[in-house]
Amino acid sequence: MSSLPEPDNTPLTGGPTLRWGVLAPGSIAGQWVGTLHANTDQRVVAVASRSLARAEEFAARHGIERAYGGYEQLVADPGVDAVYVAAPHSEHLALGLLAIAAGKHVLIEKPIGVNAAQARELKAAAGAAGVLVMEAMWSRYLPQTTVVARLLGDGALGDVLTVTADFGAVFEFDPAGRGFDPALGGGALLDLGVYPGWFAHFVLGAPERVTATGTLTVTGVDEQSAVILDYASRAQAVITTSLVVETPRIATVSGTRARLEFAGPFFAPSDFTLVRDGERIPYTDRTGFAWGEGLCYQAAAFASYVADGLLDSPLHSMDDTVAVLEVLDSARAQLGAL
Ligand SMILES: NC(=O)c1ccc[n+]([C@@H]2O[C@H](COP(=O)([O-])OP(=O)(O)OC[C@H]3O[C@@H](n4cnc5c(N)ncnc54)[C@H](OP(=O)(O)O)[C@@H]3O)[C@@H](O)[C@H]2O)c1
Repeated sequence: MSSLPEPDNTPLTGGPTLRWGVLAPGSIAGQWVGTLHANTDQRVVAVASRSLARAEEFAARHGIERAYGGYEQLVADPGVDAVYVAAPHSEHLALGLLAIAAGKHVLIEKPIGVNAAQARELKAAAGAAGVLVMEAMWSRYLPQTTVVARLLGDGALGDVLTVTADFGAVFEFDPAGRGFDPALGGGALLDLGVYPGWFAHFVLGAPERVTATGTLTVTGVDEQSAVILDYASRAQAVITTSLVVETPRIATVSGTRARLEFAGPFFAPSDFTLVRDGERIPYTDRTGFAWGEGLCYQAAAFASYVADGLLDSPLHSMDDTVAVLEVLDSARAQLGAL
């Protein structure tokens, strides 16, 4: 093989569109709305905050028609087709259920909940209501990831036996902040580890055994950890996370015939190389997008799934979402994290 497959991501424009409502206009919500309006046909028509003034300020900044001072008001808006939940992890379950109960399709920031049980609850509620629920695992919808999926599907790497992925980022210490407060779902594994956890699952599926070691913060959440995943196929994955150092955010996938080496950050628009028989075949990112701009691909995919009547993502299903959280649950329990 001297060339790579072409990306087959959902096009950003020209496809079905949704009228979106945003719950919780914080930092990531601003990036998400910005890239949707700049790069897709999707339109955010309403925003809700716990404070009307914050909702109005966000609406003015992003050209959004309607601002609400309460989340319940937004989900009752008949002009909203789909809701994006961008609150801290601890609020995802309640806000997801709120949107589902109002009959809205819902895209929920990562991690979809603070444990696998919450993900299962969201899956069951959405299934009963007949709406699409999806974790905002945006990395899975990026063009580069569709190329990797084709390589894996074609068996281009042979038997994949080793996967590594890391994500460390420095969170300024704030015992009441969402990185450190157990009540907000703090800790590196839920916030950052969900990416390497997803990546290992994407490549290898669910492991047979999870082994975790690491340290806790003074607030009792996981600060830094290394997690080894062992698979029935005899493959292994090693995922590392940290709240206290910035790591290269690279990933590797090694098979019996070839390997992939990702430039960091592997979960955002980035380059990778297929190495086979001494030949290095590069994939160069064509999006030209900075990190947060890549959030738009998942929204275009979500809109196409709704148009097709799908109630689960074909690329990162709710069962996949549950399985990744089961790994994080196990690792956090072994660390004694709150
Ligand atoms: N995909 C990505 O690349 C990415 C990047 C960063 C974060 N995230 C995810 O996005 C979520 C939010 O992160 P963020 O960094 O945007 O957080 P943030 O800036 O703190 O914003 C979260 C918003 O949630 C609302 N909220 C509702 N209940 C809250 C509570 N009990 N405590 C604090 N805020 C509450 C607040 O808005 P109102 O009070 O105005 O309603 C707040 O502005 C997290 O789950 C995180 O994992 C994803």
